[in-house]
Amino acid sequence: MGRLAEKARERDGQNGRPRARATAPVPDRGRLYRDMASLFRRDLANVEAGVYPLPQDRDGSLLSLLDRSGLFFEDLPRVHSRRQAGEHSEVLNDNTRGRRPRYYLQNFHFQTGGWMTEDSAKRYDMQVEVLFYGTANLIRRQALPPLREAFAGRDQRRLRLLDLGCGTGRLLNFVKQCWPRLPCIGLDMSEPYLREARRHLDSWSWLKLVVGNGEMIPLPDASQDAITNVFMFHELPPEVRRAVFREFARVLKPGGRLIILDSLQRGDEPDYDGLLEMFPQNFHEPYYADYLDEDFGHIAQEAGLRHIRSENVFVSKAMIFDKP
Ligand SMILES: C[S@@+](CC[C@H](N)C(=O)[O-])C[C@H]1O[C@@H](n2cnc3c(N)ncnc32)[C@H](O)[C@@H]1O
Repeated sequence: MGRLAEKARERDGQNGRPRARATAPVPDRGRLYRDMASLFRRDLANVEAGVYPLPQDRDGSLLSLLDRSGLFFEDLPRVHSRRQAGEHSEVLNDNTRGRRPRYYLQNFHFQTGGWMTEDSAKRYDMQVEVLFYGTANLIRRQALPPLREAFAGRDQRRLRLLDLGCGTGRLLNFVKQCWPRLPCIGLDMSEPYLREARRHLDSWSWLKLVVGNGEMIPLPDASQDAITNVFMFHELPPEVRRAVFREFARVLKPGGRLIILDSLQRGDEPDYDGLLEMFPQNFHEPYYADYLDEDFGHIAQEAGLRHIRSENVFVSKAMIFDKP
């Protein structure tokens, strides 16, 4: 979102769209870089402490990265036109209508294809890394320390992990680098994103990728020791957040752990509050403003989960819950 702050300033007054406005502080570039540097130090400290092995992003050769960058740049003019026109429902058409919930059928971030096309799945990781200044994978890895706590002293082969909204499988890749024989399921509503995940994760076994909706997780009650969920909740309407939490509580075993990694919320890092306010003014993020003030401790409690702690991770945070 650092890139966002710059973009918002650059675009001021250029195109007749209202300027992105913030009523709260926006971090300057120096602050963003300092906070990114401390995330890099935290990542290295985790490796040195043996919390996770030296990570391998496994994003392919330089040529394939260039190819993906090309796809990303190629889409920018279309993203720009959609932003100008306020157009965000192209993915709602005769082929998709009724096959996915309405809230899902939108061009989040104004990206072409929403979650529904192969090209969008290929472009996704480059787009996320640009948005986070190249820290997206470091942010994802901050789900691993609380997982290691939960798994300490246990036989990985007997544990079960679900990654809901696994997208292209980047978190699962890091989970597998830590626990190669941990049986994992990646669940997502996007077939193209799961195909991309399958390619990314093709060398791992003990792994299933399944198409499904987090509001109706296709798993038995009390079957999972851990659930992870990255960058998804800010894209869900409030009632869906609650439905997904009820499903988390249902499928977790007693003593099981839930780790959600998503955007900071208002007040978590007061110097970033203005940046958070500007995000949905620049990107199509229809539920983000509401997300900023959501009370996840309360949602968890209503669902039967206990909030253990939250940790800020650059522009994101890890929220950790246990099932008593
Ligand atoms: C912003 S992406 C995050 C992907 C991935 N977790 C990551 O680390 O980048 C959000 C993902 O959530 C999925 N998703 C959104 N709503 C969902 C739902 N109700 N059930 C399952 N998947 C959902 C989307 O298909 C998309 O892959």
